Amino acid sequence: MTFRDPLNIVVLVSGTGTLLQSLIDHQGSAYRIVRVVADKDCPALERAGRAGIEALTVPLEGDRDSWNVRLADTVEAAAPDYVVSAGFMKILGAPFLDRFGARTVNTHPALLPSFPGAHAVRDALAYGVKVTGSTVHFVDAGVDTGPIIAQKPVEVVDGEDEAELHERIKKVERRLIVSVLEGFHRAGASPD
Ligand code: GAR
Repeated sequence: MTFRDPLNIVVLVSGTGTLLQSLIDHQGSAYRIVRVVADKDCPALERAGRAGIEALTVPLEGDRDSWNVRLADTVEAAAPDYVVSAGFMKILGAPFLDRFGARTVNTHPALLPSFPGAHAVRDALAYGVKVTGSTVHFVDAGVDTGPIIAQKPVEVVDGEDEAELHERIKKVERRLIVSVLEGFHRAGASPD
């Protein structure tokens, strides 16, 4: 498989988009963002717009398989080398993963395989762990179960709440996802 130089990236978002902002701010010789796709209206779309990046929404309407097909079509039209799920809060299904699974990476706010799912920071705090962190992994058919690419630990501070801990983890995530893409570029960008 031949990749562009810099790598062409599509970013999937659902939320405030601070990870997207970090990806925008670090574009350059390693990668460039060719399209941002959301499942709903969200502040991340405004960040894309301010950066002059095409931003589209594919809302989850109708059955899930047809939504996955529409999402994959929207991603494919931008011809990305890699897809980055950066705060995208929907599970990607087979119709999407059959086309992009080998080159879709997700950033998750916990040290997988601990605390998968949509409430990773809350779950880690509730368990009482002393160390949590950030994981970047390839997306497979499970919930946050795909092969791990990179991880960084974050120590839990006594007494901090979910929002405070999440913000400290996100500081780490913002650097980690950029360094993974830079690593893909350095390595010749082969998912094999
Ligand atoms: C990040 O912490 C990301 O890991 C998490 O949502 C946040 C997005 O922040 N994703 C998940 O929890 C997916 N299971 P942002 O909107 O500020 O970029």
